[in-house]
Amino acid sequence: KAHFTEGKPLQGKKMIVTAGPTREKIDPVRFFSNRSSGKMGYAIATEAARLGADVLLISGPTVLPDPPGVTTIRVESAAEMFQEVINRYDETNIVVKTAAVADYRPSESYSKKMKKQAGNLSIEMERTTDILKTLGERKKEQLLIGFAAETENVEEYARKKLFNKNLDMVVANNVNETGAGFAGDTNIVTIYKRVGDTLQLPLLSKNDVAKRLLAEIIKLDKEDTQ
Ligand code: CTP
Ligand code: CA
Repeated sequence: KAHFTEGKPLQGKKMIVTAGPTREKIDPVRFFSNRSSGKMGYAIATEAARLGADVLLISGPTVLPDPPGVTTIRVESAAEMFQEVINRYDETNIVVKTAAVADYRPSESYSKKMKKQAGNLSIEMERTTDILKTLGERKKEQLLIGFAAETENVEEYARKKLFNKNLDMVVANNVNETGAGFAGDTNIVTIYKRVGDTLQLPLLSKNDVAKRLLAEIIKLDKEDTQ
């Protein structure tokens, strides 16, 4: 039996990966967003599929092609991403939330293009739903992995996210460090776990970060099903 699953340790596992930024609409031609490229999430989705998982990638707008062997759903806003994730959450085994979800959206979005006027413009913003926190609150058997993008106090903030969102692991990166963060092909991350030792990784390609993270997920999954 081991013979058939060798190299496919995630066979039979349903996994959701979210990736990319979200866009929060101001009017038909304008939005708020962030610098996320989607590369980290796409690398995780690709690698997870290679390891046998049934992967659904829920992606904000990126220029990246749909990864091979993965079902990809494109969304724009945090609200749309939330809907797609929550719809399938109950039957999912593993969720990796790489997406850089907007924390705020304009309180009103206009159906017509806003015309400029004399003086300054203020746009009122309201909070979006914290998708990952909601998943943590509704967690049953799922493994939940979050990302934390920080520019200071990385360990403290990452551990707070781990605890506050009821996660199994948080992958923290200091987006100010050269070679880490949103745009490039490399990342420098530290993986904090609810149970077990912290894993500090060197500068790696995002593909290699994905491989190392999935190795940790596979270990955790084995411990859970023992
Ligand atoms: N996240 C989410 N929904 C949101 C905001 C964040 O699911 N509305 C998820 C991200 O996908 C990521 C994790 O929460 O996996 C941490 O995101 P981050 O922006 O680092 O943390 P926040 O909890 O939003 O806190 P802050 O931005 O204040 O640091
Ligand atoms: Ca945030």
